[in-house]
Amino acid sequence: MSLEKEKLTLAIESSCDETSAAVLRGGREILSNIISTQIPVHQRFGGVVPEIASRKHIVNIMPVIDEALTEAGVSLPAIDQVAVTYGPGLVGALLVGVSAAKALAFSLGVPLIGVNHLEGHIFANFLAAPELAPPFVALVVSGGHTALVRVDDYNRFRMLGQTRDDAAGEAFDKVARVLGLPYPGGPQIDKLAAEGEPVIDFPRALEEKGNYEFSFSGLKSAVLNYINSERMKGHALRTADIAASFQSAVVEVLTHKAFEAVQSSGLDTLVLAGGVAANSGLEARLRQEAAKRHVRFYFPDRILCTDNAAMIGCRGYYQALAGEESDLYLNAVPGLGLTDR
Ligand code: KG4
Ligand code: ZN
Repeated sequence: MSLEKEKLTLAIESSCDETSAAVLRGGREILSNIISTQIPVHQRFGGVVPEIASRKHIVNIMPVIDEALTEAGVSLPAIDQVAVTYGPGLVGALLVGVSAAKALAFSLGVPLIGVNHLEGHIFANFLAAPELAPPFVALVVSGGHTALVRVDDYNRFRMLGQTRDDAAGEAFDKVARVLGLPYPGGPQIDKLAAEGEPVIDFPRALEEKGNYEFSFSGLKSAVLNYINSERMKGHALRTADIAASFQSAVVEVLTHKAFEAVQSSGLDTLVLAGGVAANSGLEARLRQEAAKRHVRFYFPDRILCTDNAAMIGCRGYYQALAGEESDLYLNAVPGLGLTDR
Protein backbone atom coordinates (compact mmCIF):
# COMPACT_ATOMS: atom_id res chain seq x y z
CA MET A 1 0.00 0.00 0.00
CA SER A 2 1.37 3.39 -0.93
CA LEU A 3 1.77 6.18 1.60
CA GLU A 4 -1.35 8.34 2.07
CA LYS A 5 0.17 11.34 0.32
CA GLU A 6 1.20 9.23 -2.65
CA LYS A 7 -2.16 7.55 -3.22
CA LEU A 8 -3.03 7.29 -6.89
CA THR A 9 -6.57 8.37 -7.74
CA LEU A 10 -8.18 7.65 -11.09
CA ALA A 11 -10.93 10.23 -11.62
CA ILE A 12 -13.76 10.23 -14.15
CA GLU A 13 -16.05 13.09 -15.23
CA SER A 14 -18.93 12.78 -17.73
CA SER A 15 -21.69 15.04 -16.38
CA CYS A 16 -22.33 17.10 -19.52
CA ASP A 17 -20.45 17.41 -22.80
CA GLU A 18 -16.89 16.63 -21.75
CA THR A 19 -15.58 13.08 -21.28
CA SER A 20 -12.60 13.34 -18.96
CA ALA A 21 -10.27 11.09 -16.99
CA ALA A 22 -7.35 12.07 -14.77
CA VAL A 23 -4.73 10.47 -12.56
CA LEU A 24 -3.67 12.31 -9.40
CA ARG A 25 -0.82 11.47 -7.02
CA GLY A 26 -1.93 12.55 -3.58
CA GLY A 27 -4.55 15.28 -3.49
CA ARG A 28 -2.94 17.93 -5.64
CA GLU A 29 -0.45 16.53 -8.12
CA ILE A 30 -1.93 16.04 -11.58
CA LEU A 31 -0.21 13.23 -13.48
CA SER A 32 -2.68 13.47 -16.36
CA ASN A 33 -5.97 15.23 -17.13
CA ILE A 34 -7.44 14.16 -20.48
CA ILE A 35 -10.51 16.06 -21.71
CA SER A 36 -12.42 15.02 -24.81
CA THR A 37 -14.92 17.75 -25.58
CA GLN A 38 -18.12 17.21 -27.54
CA ILE A 39 -18.68 20.93 -28.21
CA PRO A 40 -18.29 20.60 -32.02
CA VAL A 41 -20.86 17.77 -32.03
CA HIS A 42 -23.52 19.81 -30.19
CA GLN A 43 -22.75 23.21 -31.76
CA ARG A 44 -25.04 22.79 -34.74
CA PHE A 45 -27.98 22.14 -32.37
CA GLY A 46 -27.27 25.33 -30.39
CA GLY A 47 -26.88 23.41 -27.11
CA VAL A 48 -26.14 20.01 -25.61
CA VAL A 49 -28.41 17.21 -26.88
CA PRO A 50 -28.57 14.76 -23.93
CA GLU A 51 -29.03 11.55 -25.94
CA ILE A 52 -26.12 12.37 -28.25
CA ALA A 53 -23.98 13.30 -25.22
CA SER A 54 -24.61 9.89 -23.59
CA ARG A 55 -23.74 8.01 -26.76
CA LYS A 56 -20.54 10.00 -27.28
CA HIS A 57 -19.50 9.37 -23.66
CA ILE A 58 -19.94 5.62 -24.22
CA VAL A 59 -17.66 5.77 -27.27
CA ASN A 60 -15.07 7.99 -25.59
CA ILE A 61 -14.87 6.80 -22.00
CA MET A 62 -12.46 3.85 -22.28
CA PRO A 63 -10.05 5.53 -24.75
CA VAL A 64 -9.97 8.62 -22.49
CA ILE A 65 -9.25 6.49 -19.39
CA ASP A 66 -6.53 4.58 -21.29
CA GLU A 67 -4.96 7.84 -22.41
CA ALA A 68 -5.02 9.24 -18.86
CA LEU A 69 -3.23 6.13 -17.54
CA THR A 70 -0.69 6.14 -20.38
CA GLU A 71 0.10 9.83 -20.00
CA ALA A 72 0.49 9.38 -16.24
CA GLY A 73 2.76 6.37 -16.79
CA VAL A 74 0.57 4.39 -14.40
CA SER A 75 -0.82 0.90 -14.91
CA LEU A 76 -4.38 0.12 -13.86
CA PRO A 77 -3.41 -2.23 -10.97
CA ALA A 78 -1.40 0.63 -9.39
CA ILE A 79 -4.59 2.71 -8.90
CA ASP A 80 -5.55 3.03 -5.19
CA GLN A 81 -9.04 4.55 -5.57
CA VAL A 82 -11.55 5.63 -8.21
CA ALA A 83 -13.43 8.94 -7.97
CA VAL A 84 -16.37 9.79 -10.20
CA THR A 85 -18.92 12.59 -10.68
CA TYR A 86 -22.39 11.28 -9.76
CA GLY A 87 -24.28 14.59 -10.05
CA PRO A 88 -25.48 17.15 -10.90
CA GLY A 89 -25.67 16.75 -14.66
CA LEU A 90 -27.44 14.89 -17.45
CA VAL A 91 -28.60 11.51 -16.19
CA GLY A 92 -27.53 9.45 -19.22
CA ALA A 93 -24.17 11.21 -19.38
CA LEU A 94 -23.52 10.74 -15.64
CA LEU A 95 -24.44 7.05 -15.83
CA VAL A 96 -21.65 6.35 -18.32
CA GLY A 97 -18.96 7.63 -15.94
CA VAL A 98 -20.58 6.09 -12.86
CA SER A 99 -20.85 2.66 -14.53
CA ALA A 100 -17.24 2.74 -15.74
CA ALA A 101 -16.01 3.82 -12.30
CA LYS A 102 -18.00 1.11 -10.52
CA ALA A 103 -16.70 -1.59 -12.87
CA LEU A 104 -13.10 -0.43 -12.41
CA ALA A 105 -13.33 -0.08 -8.62
CA PHE A 106 -14.96 -3.50 -8.31
CA SER A 107 -12.50 -5.29 -10.57
CA LEU A 108 -9.47 -3.64 -8.93
CA GLY A 109 -10.87 -4.14 -5.43
CA VAL A 110 -10.32 -0.47 -4.53
CA PRO A 111 -12.61 2.16 -2.96
CA LEU A 112 -15.14 4.04 -5.09
CA ILE A 113 -15.79 7.70 -4.26
CA GLY A 114 -18.87 9.50 -5.63
CA VAL A 115 -18.15 13.21 -6.09
CA ASN A 116 -20.48 16.22 -6.35
CA HIS A 117 -19.49 18.04 -9.56
CA LEU A 118 -19.96 21.49 -7.98
CA GLU A 119 -17.70 20.64 -5.06
CA GLY A 120 -15.22 19.47 -7.69
CA HIS A 121 -15.27 22.92 -9.29
CA ILE A 122 -14.37 24.52 -5.95
CA PHE A 123 -11.56 22.00 -5.42
CA ALA A 124 -10.01 22.87 -8.82
CA ASN A 125 -8.54 25.79 -6.88
CA PHE A 126 -6.49 23.43 -4.68
CA LEU A 127 -4.88 22.03 -7.84
CA ALA A 128 -4.11 25.50 -9.13
CA ALA A 129 -2.73 26.85 -5.83
CA PRO A 130 -0.74 24.42 -3.62
CA GLU A 131 -0.72 26.91 -0.73
CA LEU A 132 -4.52 27.38 -0.66
CA ALA A 133 -6.29 26.03 2.42
CA PRO A 134 -9.72 26.62 4.01
CA PRO A 135 -11.38 28.69 5.35
CA PHE A 136 -12.48 30.81 2.39
CA VAL A 137 -15.55 31.96 0.49
CA ALA A 138 -16.14 30.29 -2.90
CA LEU A 139 -18.08 31.91 -5.73
CA VAL A 140 -19.33 29.04 -7.91
CA VAL A 141 -20.50 30.14 -11.36
CA SER A 142 -21.24 27.43 -13.91
CA GLY A 143 -23.68 26.64 -16.67
CA GLY A 144 -26.18 25.23 -14.19
CA HIS A 145 -25.37 26.90 -10.85
CA THR A 146 -24.50 30.20 -9.26
CA ALA A 147 -23.74 30.12 -5.55
CA LEU A 148 -21.72 31.60 -2.72
CA VAL A 149 -20.35 28.96 -0.37
CA ARG A 150 -18.42 29.30 2.85
CA VAL A 151 -15.77 26.55 2.93
CA ASP A 152 -14.72 26.08 6.56
CA ASP A 153 -12.75 22.91 6.02
CA TYR A 154 -12.17 20.29 3.30
CA ASN A 155 -15.39 18.55 4.30
CA ARG A 156 -17.33 21.34 5.97
CA PHE A 157 -19.26 23.81 3.75
CA ARG A 158 -22.15 26.20 4.29
CA MET A 159 -24.33 27.56 1.50
CA LEU A 160 -24.62 31.35 1.82
CA GLY A 161 -26.94 31.82 -1.14
CA GLN A 162 -27.65 30.63 -4.64
CA THR A 163 -29.61 31.62 -7.71
CA ARG A 164 -33.39 31.69 -7.54
CA ASP A 165 -33.74 31.10 -11.26
CA ASP A 166 -31.14 31.05 -14.06
CA ALA A 167 -27.47 30.37 -13.49
CA ALA A 168 -25.00 32.98 -14.72
CA GLY A 169 -23.66 30.64 -17.44
CA GLU A 170 -27.19 29.90 -18.62
CA ALA A 171 -27.85 33.64 -19.02
CA PHE A 172 -24.58 34.02 -21.00
CA ASP A 173 -25.61 31.15 -23.29
CA LYS A 174 -29.15 32.47 -23.86
CA VAL A 175 -28.08 36.05 -24.61
CA ALA A 176 -25.42 34.70 -27.00
CA ARG A 177 -27.99 32.59 -28.78
CA VAL A 178 -30.28 35.59 -29.37
CA LEU A 179 -27.28 37.50 -30.73
CA GLY A 180 -26.73 34.62 -33.18
CA LEU A 181 -23.46 33.49 -31.59
CA PRO A 182 -22.53 29.77 -31.51
CA TYR A 183 -22.76 27.47 -28.46
CA PRO A 184 -21.35 27.73 -25.85
CA GLY A 185 -22.12 31.42 -25.71
CA GLY A 186 -20.08 32.44 -22.64
CA PRO A 187 -16.68 32.61 -24.34
CA GLN A 188 -18.25 34.36 -27.38
CA ILE A 189 -19.85 37.09 -25.24
CA ASP A 190 -16.57 37.44 -23.35
CA LYS A 191 -14.69 38.11 -26.63
CA LEU A 192 -17.35 40.46 -28.01
CA ALA A 193 -17.62 42.39 -24.73
CA ALA A 194 -13.93 43.31 -24.99
CA GLU A 195 -14.74 45.26 -28.19
CA GLY A 196 -17.70 47.17 -26.73
CA GLU A 197 -18.60 49.61 -23.96
CA PRO A 198 -21.09 48.94 -21.13
CA VAL A 199 -23.29 51.89 -22.14
CA ILE A 200 -26.70 50.19 -21.83
CA ASP A 201 -28.15 50.16 -18.34
CA PHE A 202 -29.45 46.63 -17.70
CA PRO A 203 -31.01 45.76 -14.30
CA ARG A 204 -29.10 44.24 -11.37
CA ALA A 205 -31.28 42.11 -9.08
CA LEU A 206 -31.35 41.53 -5.29
CA GLU A 207 -28.64 44.06 -4.50
CA GLU A 208 -29.76 44.70 -0.93
CA LYS A 209 -27.18 44.18 1.80
CA GLY A 210 -26.91 40.71 3.31
CA ASN A 211 -28.75 39.01 0.45
CA TYR A 212 -26.52 36.35 -1.10
CA GLU A 213 -29.13 35.00 -3.49
CA PHE A 214 -28.86 35.71 -7.20
CA SER A 215 -31.41 36.18 -9.97
CA PHE A 216 -30.45 36.46 -13.63
CA SER A 217 -33.78 35.83 -15.36
CA GLY A 218 -34.84 39.52 -15.16
CA LEU A 219 -31.52 40.60 -16.64
CA LYS A 220 -31.80 37.99 -19.39
CA SER A 221 -35.34 39.18 -20.25
CA ALA A 222 -34.24 42.83 -20.22
CA VAL A 223 -31.46 42.06 -22.71
CA LEU A 224 -33.81 40.04 -24.95
CA ASN A 225 -36.46 42.82 -24.83
CA TYR A 226 -33.82 45.43 -25.69
CA ILE A 227 -32.65 43.38 -28.68
CA ASN A 228 -36.23 42.84 -29.92
CA SER A 229 -37.14 46.49 -29.56
CA GLU A 230 -33.99 47.65 -31.38
CA ARG A 231 -34.75 45.20 -34.20
CA MET A 232 -38.37 46.40 -34.40
CA LYS A 233 -37.18 50.02 -34.65
CA GLY A 234 -34.96 48.93 -37.54
CA HIS A 235 -31.80 49.94 -35.65
CA ALA A 236 -28.55 48.11 -36.38
CA LEU A 237 -27.68 46.06 -33.28
CA ARG A 238 -24.59 47.28 -31.44
CA THR A 239 -23.76 43.72 -30.46
CA ALA A 240 -20.42 44.50 -28.80
CA ASP A 241 -22.05 47.14 -26.56
CA ILE A 242 -24.91 44.77 -25.72
CA ALA A 243 -22.41 42.03 -24.78
CA ALA A 244 -20.32 44.46 -22.73
CA SER A 245 -23.38 45.87 -20.93
CA PHE A 246 -24.81 42.43 -20.16
CA GLN A 247 -21.46 41.06 -18.97
CA SER A 248 -20.88 44.14 -16.84
CA ALA A 249 -24.28 43.69 -15.13
CA VAL A 250 -23.48 40.03 -14.32
CA VAL A 251 -19.94 40.83 -13.17
CA GLU A 252 -21.07 43.72 -10.95
CA VAL A 253 -23.64 41.61 -9.10
CA LEU A 254 -21.24 38.68 -8.63
CA THR A 255 -18.44 40.96 -7.44
CA HIS A 256 -20.59 42.97 -5.07
CA LYS A 257 -22.09 39.88 -3.38
CA ALA A 258 -18.85 37.91 -3.27
CA PHE A 259 -16.95 40.62 -1.40
CA GLU A 260 -19.84 41.32 0.93
CA ALA A 261 -19.85 37.60 1.78
CA VAL A 262 -16.09 37.63 2.40
CA GLN A 263 -16.36 40.67 4.61
CA SER A 264 -19.34 39.48 6.64
CA SER A 265 -17.71 36.06 7.15
CA GLY A 266 -14.65 37.74 8.62
CA LEU A 267 -12.47 35.84 6.13
CA ASP A 268 -9.72 37.15 3.88
CA THR A 269 -9.81 34.73 0.92
CA LEU A 270 -12.09 34.43 -2.10
CA VAL A 271 -11.93 31.62 -4.65
CA LEU A 272 -13.69 31.55 -8.00
CA ALA A 273 -14.98 28.28 -9.48
CA GLY A 274 -17.00 26.88 -12.42
CA GLY A 275 -17.03 27.39 -16.18
CA VAL A 276 -17.88 31.11 -15.97
CA ALA A 277 -14.68 31.59 -13.93
CA ALA A 278 -12.98 31.61 -17.35
CA ASN A 279 -14.64 34.99 -18.07
CA SER A 280 -11.92 37.58 -18.45
CA GLY A 281 -14.14 40.49 -17.36
CA LEU A 282 -15.16 38.68 -14.16
CA GLU A 283 -11.62 37.65 -13.29
CA ALA A 284 -10.26 41.18 -13.90
CA ARG A 285 -12.98 42.84 -11.82
CA LEU A 286 -12.62 40.40 -8.90
CA ARG A 287 -8.84 40.74 -8.99
CA GLN A 288 -9.06 44.53 -8.94
CA GLU A 289 -11.54 44.57 -6.06
CA ALA A 290 -9.50 41.98 -4.11
CA ALA A 291 -6.36 44.12 -4.37
CA LYS A 292 -8.30 47.16 -3.14
CA ARG A 293 -9.72 45.28 -0.16
CA HIS A 294 -6.56 43.25 0.66
CA VAL A 295 -8.41 40.00 0.03
CA ARG A 296 -6.50 36.98 -1.33
CA PHE A 297 -8.08 35.94 -4.61
CA TYR A 298 -7.68 32.58 -6.35
CA PHE A 299 -9.05 31.25 -9.58
CA PRO A 300 -8.05 28.14 -11.55
CA ASP A 301 -6.34 28.10 -14.97
CA ARG A 302 -8.81 28.00 -17.84
CA ILE A 303 -8.35 24.26 -18.34
CA LEU A 304 -9.26 23.63 -14.69
CA CYS A 305 -12.23 26.10 -14.76
CA THR A 306 -14.26 24.09 -17.24
CA ASP A 307 -15.35 20.50 -16.69
CA ASN A 308 -12.40 18.16 -16.09
CA ALA A 309 -11.67 15.02 -14.11
CA ALA A 310 -8.64 16.34 -12.19
CA MET A 311 -10.90 18.53 -10.02
CA ILE A 312 -13.09 15.46 -9.33
CA GLY A 313 -9.98 13.51 -8.29
CA CYS A 314 -8.93 16.28 -5.91
CA ARG A 315 -12.38 16.41 -4.29
CA GLY A 316 -12.50 12.59 -4.10
CA TYR A 317 -9.08 12.46 -2.44
CA TYR A 318 -10.22 14.69 0.43
CA GLN A 319 -13.49 12.75 0.79
CA ALA A 320 -11.53 9.50 1.05
CA LEU A 321 -9.30 11.03 3.74
CA ALA A 322 -12.48 11.69 5.72
CA GLY A 323 -13.67 8.11 5.13
CA GLU A 324 -16.40 9.15 2.68
CA GLU A 325 -16.53 6.21 0.31
CA SER A 326 -19.45 5.03 -1.84
CA ASP A 327 -20.69 1.52 -2.35
CA LEU A 328 -21.46 -0.20 -5.63
CA TYR A 329 -25.08 0.97 -5.43
CA LEU A 330 -23.87 4.49 -6.29
CA ASN A 331 -26.32 6.01 -8.77
CA ALA A 332 -26.40 9.14 -10.89
CA VAL A 333 -28.24 12.03 -9.20
CA PRO A 334 -28.97 14.59 -11.94
CA GLY A 335 -30.43 17.21 -9.58
CA LEU A 336 -27.78 16.91 -6.86
CA GLY A 337 -27.39 20.32 -5.23
CA LEU A 338 -24.52 22.02 -3.50
CA THR A 339 -25.79 21.63 0.03
CA ASP A 340 -24.41 22.18 3.48
CA ARG A 341 -22.11 19.51 4.84
O1 KG4 B 1 -18.78 24.52 -15.35
P1 KG4 B 1 -19.11 24.34 -16.76
O2 KG4 B 1 -18.02 23.91 -17.72
O3 KG4 B 1 -20.29 23.35 -16.95
C1 KG4 B 1 -21.25 23.21 -15.94
O4 KG4 B 1 -20.94 22.53 -14.94
O5 KG4 B 1 -22.32 23.85 -16.10
O6 KG4 B 1 -19.72 25.72 -17.25
C2 KG4 B 1 -20.16 25.92 -18.56
C3 KG4 B 1 -20.66 27.34 -18.66
C4 KG4 B 1 -21.37 27.62 -19.97
O7 KG4 B 1 -22.56 28.30 -19.69
C5 KG4 B 1 -20.38 28.53 -20.69
O8 KG4 B 1 -21.00 29.42 -21.60
C6 KG4 B 1 -19.75 29.25 -19.54
O9 KG4 B 1 -19.56 28.27 -18.56
N1 KG4 B 1 -18.46 29.87 -19.89
C7 KG4 B 1 -18.24 31.19 -19.87
C8 KG4 B 1 -16.92 31.38 -20.35
N2 KG4 B 1 -16.37 30.16 -20.61
C9 KG4 B 1 -17.34 29.24 -20.32
N3 KG4 B 1 -19.04 32.20 -19.52
C10 KG4 B 1 -18.56 33.45 -19.64
N4 KG4 B 1 -17.30 33.73 -20.09
C11 KG4 B 1 -16.45 32.74 -20.44
N5 KG4 B 1 -15.22 33.02 -20.89
ZN1 ZN C 1 -19.14 22.14 -14.49
